[in-house]
Amino acid sequence: IRLAILASGSGSNAEKIMEHFQTSSKAEVALVASNKAEAFVLERAKKFNVPTFTFSRKEMDAGILLEKLKEEKIDWVILAGFLLKIPVELTRAFPDRMVNIHPALLPKYGGKGMYGSHVHEAVKAAGEKETGITIHLVNENYDEGRIVFQASVALDDLDTPESIAAKVHMLEHRHFPLVIEELLTQSST
Ligand code: GRF
Repeated sequence: IRLAILASGSGSNAEKIMEHFQTSSKAEVALVASNKAEAFVLERAKKFNVPTFTFSRKEMDAGILLEKLKEEKIDWVILAGFLLKIPVELTRAFPDRMVNIHPALLPKYGGKGMYGSHVHEAVKAAGEKETGITIHLVNENYDEGRIVFQASVALDDLDTPESIAAKVHMLEHRHFPLVIEELLTQSST
């Protein structure tokens, strides 16, 4: 089974996924693609000898990314900190085969603008006693795809958006690779 990871930033989740599947016989990370030529995730991919591909929003919307994924015979697309809206043609090409991780407990703190540190600032501002991660399938309505996994972590008054982000990253790194493996195992390809 061939996985492609789409990421726009640092790629700490991508790294954990590449690490996990390096020793897994179930699947391999065949491509790391980014809309940012300078994204650190591309450096991480090189370290794991995973081919990389960069594209612009225009190219993605023109179908160039979908073409590349088909060329590489990708079976699953993993969004790990990918900040662009996926074109509907792309979601349709991977029905129930595109997974996203959201750094909060959807349906709360979802939707437009809730990415990066904004989501942790909103959680802090609301005085939430917990936050967490949501791993969900991506469909045309984005954050509304079927939720496949959630994990939560307690917060207290001393938490800041930075400390919340650190707690959330720990959950992501611990669970995302395993949840992906579980999804692959459940489905045929
Ligand atoms: C993660 O918090 C993820 O939930 C969100 O973007 C962040 C990506 O972090 N979608 P990284 O690039 O994997 O370090």
